Amino acid sequence: MEVIKEAADLIGSSNFVVALTGAGISAESGIPTFRGKNGLWRKYRAEDLATPEAFARNPRLVWEWYVWRMKIIGSAEPNPGHIALAKMEEMGILKALITQNVDGLHRRAGSRNVLELHGNIWRVRCVDCGFSKMISKPPEQIPPKCEECGGLLRPDVVWFGEPLPKDVLNRAIYYASRADLMLVIGTSAVVQPAASLPLLTKRNGGILIEINISDTPLTPICDLTIREKAGVILPKILEEIG
Ligand code: OAD
Repeated sequence: MEVIKEAADLIGSSNFVVALTGAGISAESGIPTFRGKNGLWRKYRAEDLATPEAFARNPRLVWEWYVWRMKIIGSAEPNPGHIALAKMEEMGILKALITQNVDGLHRRAGSRNVLELHGNIWRVRCVDCGFSKMISKPPEQIPPKCEECGGLLRPDVVWFGEPLPKDVLNRAIYYASRADLMLVIGTSAVVQPAASLPLLTKRNGGILIEINISDTPLTPICDLTIREKAGVILPKILEEIG
């Protein structure tokens, strides 16, 4: 395919490549996306499950939803798309991987410089004392309690209406601004501020390559758009880079 060669050439002639990923990259691992035909937000209301108000109202309900998602994520494996990105980093091509995903699959695939804009589903945080820790399986008792102060533990993810972790966002802004090429993969590009990061790359003269099975609001400003599954196309691009 001509686009594969084109993408490989553009990547090959860039010095500082950064990727931004969304739920679409994990779709081929069997993890549901948020929007689109079978998206989670078609079946569930974000206001009931992914806001601080929802958690204050009904922590058990919110936790049940997260335990369900943890089970899906826990039995999922990184797919060839995640693995190709990890290899690109290993080869010194990809400098940072900015993700909106909370599933941790990029790290499991071997990526190291991963910026998790929306947190990680395997980290919990106390709403009272701020204690936080990583967990490896869903909590048995829900809602789980803080071992330090007895307060309520929540998933350490970003909910609607909450700010992103400042240090992570600042680093993402740095990488997006410095990138001379950004791969925008599997994101509907409607949730801010993540959706604006490619604009920083573009504004500084960088190239945008979009890999997505459908159009997004970013499509019109992308230099190259590849309408294919990430897990299919990324290994092919990697192979072409050589
Ligand atoms: P979305 O579910 O909004 O979008 C997924 C995107 O992936 C869509 O544009 C699909 O066309 C595309 N897609 C699906 N399968 C694909 C595949 N195999 N290969 C390539 N592309 C594919 O997910 P996000 O953009 O990540 O935030 O959503 C952003 C945020 O909204 C999430 O982080 C989450 C959600 O609400 C919070 O919970 C704060």
